[in-house]
Amino acid sequence: MKVTVFGSGYVGLVTAACLADVGNHVVCVDVDAKKIETLKAGHCPFYEPGVDDLLVRNAKAGRLDFTTSAADGVAHGEIIFIAVGTPPQEDGSADLQYVLAVARTIGQYMTDYRVVCTKSTVPVGTSAKVREALGSTLAGRGVDVPYDVVSNPEFLKEGAAVEDFMRPDRIIVGTDSPRPLELMRALYAPFNRNHDRVMAMDVQSAELTKYAANAMLATRISFMNELALLAEKVGADIESVRRGIGSDPRIGFQFLYAGCGYGGSCFPKDVKALVRTGHEYGQTLQVLTAVEAANDHQKHVLFDRIQAYLGDLSGKTIALWGLAFKPNTDDMREAPSRVLMEAIWAAGGKVRAHDPVAMETTRAIYGERDDLALVPSPEVACEGADVLAIVTEWAVFRSPDFAAIKKLLRTPAIFDGRNLYAPKAVADAGFYYESIGRKTVGG
Ligand code: UDX
Repeated sequence: MKVTVFGSGYVGLVTAACLADVGNHVVCVDVDAKKIETLKAGHCPFYEPGVDDLLVRNAKAGRLDFTTSAADGVAHGEIIFIAVGTPPQEDGSADLQYVLAVARTIGQYMTDYRVVCTKSTVPVGTSAKVREALGSTLAGRGVDVPYDVVSNPEFLKEGAAVEDFMRPDRIIVGTDSPRPLELMRALYAPFNRNHDRVMAMDVQSAELTKYAANAMLATRISFMNELALLAEKVGADIESVRRGIGSDPRIGFQFLYAGCGYGGSCFPKDVKALVRTGHEYGQTLQVLTAVEAANDHQKHVLFDRIQAYLGDLSGKTIALWGLAFKPNTDDMREAPSRVLMEAIWAAGGKVRAHDPVAMETTRAIYGERDDLALVPSPEVACEGADVLAIVTEWAVFRSPDFAAIKKLLRTPAIFDGRNLYAPKAVADAGFYYESIGRKTVGG
């Protein structure tokens, strides 16, 4: 099939590369000429395992093209995805100007039937606005070309986006008419394993499903984080509690890990957006309001503990393992590491950090500064630091040489925001060890 994807960001490129890989001819359109050049040269503008290979392979095979020409893009794809950014505005609501600009552009160039598919994460009601913007542009041209607007939210996890796209749990297609549904079913047929993964529903339900999924997952995490704080007080171990409840199939094991708070481009933004949608419609979402507050609190827990342990932080250096909001990504959006670093700096301390891929992103955010050293290995981060804090569970941090680290740190103390180690093993290695929702040991 012929597909066009507007927006060569994360969601757009993963979608384009995966759709091309199953044989579709996909054209990616972006207004950023530099980005299009980069892509044409075979480079992916962000870090995501597997995407580079897919881009190169499918471009070589002639199934994937990149252009800045919106006219060519609209002429090409019978199905057109809108995957442009929806940056948060001052008040936190999603800025829809880019989405609606694409809708108008499509209306400007369209001469035949098109299915316009919103892939960007957009508030409930956006598809109706897209339909309106496209329709009024066509009316302005004085032409009557048929089109349908479909909501097709993505459920990609950073670091596993290709796998998530290729092996989806479900494919949500929100539409009120059979014609686009048939086309979308055909487009996604290669991704049906064992059974049909397409779930058809009305547009509003599709839009709400996306938010509901992320909000539910965020709720599980905040619930476990609060319970972890209680577990510490009553002398319980959150890992035992997690296993104990996760084995109930109604609860399940996933997304029950207590830690130093959730970050990323989706959970924080989507929880906020859903709370706001509630307000707009006169419905207070009390649970989600609490989910957000609990997460904000959780992001400060490590700092409070380090400060309680070290006292005055001025002149002190904290070794930091992990910067990205989770492993296998260089994404620093809403990362717990930022809250920790900024609190350390505000208290007069310094940070020596290592992350396998997110150091460039970190430098781009904070620039060169005296109180931040970005160093090439976990060990170097510990050299001359007072204590060690861990905020991202990269595989490379999982079995460190404790004896070597003990020699490098001024004080053998570890503040683990991801519960990476068995407390007894760390205590036996001679460390003071605080983790989340488990007994503090050593020291
Ligand atoms: C999420 C959704 O999982 C995905 O379906 C949606 O399309 C986009 O948002 P992503 O933001 O890439 O994906 O990361 P995810 O793996 O879900 O993790 C989000 C955050 O929650 C991370 O900061 C992670 O560390 C944290 N987390 C996750 C926990 O603290 N505990 C858990 O048990 C799971």
